[in-house]
Amino acid sequence: MSSVAELPTPAEEPSRPGREPAVGKPPAKAPTAVEVGVGGRLRRAERDEQDGQPAERPYPGGIPDATVARLPVYLRALYTLADRGVSTVASDELATAAGVNSAKLRKDLSHLGSYGIRGVGYDVEYLVYQVSRALGLNQNWPVVIVGAGNLGHALANYGGFVSRGFRIAAMLDSDQSMVGHRVGSVTVRHVSELEEIVASSGIAIGVIAVPAAAAQAVCDRLVAAGVTSILNFAPVVLTVADGVDVRKVDLSIELQILAFHAQRRSAERFGQADPAAAGA
Ligand code: NAI
Repeated sequence: MSSVAELPTPAEEPSRPGREPAVGKPPAKAPTAVEVGVGGRLRRAERDEQDGQPAERPYPGGIPDATVARLPVYLRALYTLADRGVSTVASDELATAAGVNSAKLRKDLSHLGSYGIRGVGYDVEYLVYQVSRALGLNQNWPVVIVGAGNLGHALANYGGFVSRGFRIAAMLDSDQSMVGHRVGSVTVRHVSELEEIVASSGIAIGVIAVPAAAAQAVCDRLVAAGVTSILNFAPVVLTVADGVDVRKVDLSIELQILAFHAQRRSAERFGQADPAAAGA
């Protein structure tokens, strides 16, 4: 994986069926560069887009992967502030809300060309727009969930994806008895329709929620159908070709990490210097 994430600009993105503008639209009156201290390059790119000219790439140096990984955390904190009616936020306040130090936050946001205003901070609404745009969330990403079991149901019933730029476009299962069931906003279809659905719905992201033994085959089919972003919940490491991004979610790993810290705290309380050795 490269150390720098090259993020698409709206101007560079080929239009695909099913993608519509979604969250992170520019505020009705976007503050000017002077108001929010936006970097010159980004402003110029936005102006070019408005003028119908080819836009300059807004992230000329790319955005480091570590920064990309923190952007959703900033976005969540910004949404919470916006929900409370906060319109501007100081960098230390936003950093505290996101659980990072403020120097790191300022550095991260500088990659988006956002520097805030001295003594005022960041415009919350505009920063939501900038972060959403950097993450590619200012359009709707159609998602297919493969596996309509317990997890698939929970994901499809979760309403929070839509407001974050993701639309559950389809849900597939190999169990004929599941086909036709309504889950959330979709009706379960048979997995034999995968290729056709990926093409007709312009599926951008595939979510794998099938048993481990079936996950690689499902992944291979998604990739062959043209899906290059996969979120895998199955407890198995998937093999994919270069150019395909796989993110793995494993709650049991998170729990194991918590168990490690709990064990260490408990060992410290009882005065053991090396908890791992103490437990051995
Ligand atoms: P489940 O058994 O309730 O659902 C699995 C569904 O996949 C079933 O409806 C089954 O018919 C379907 N399926 C099986 N093979 C298929 C195929 N080739 N194509 C399409 N559909 C297929 O299981 P559950 O609880 O929903 O878990 C799903 C997966 O997610 C499992 O691999 C499980 O280990 C994993 N999981 C991961 C978690 C995490 O934190 N990452 C948390 C919970 C579950």
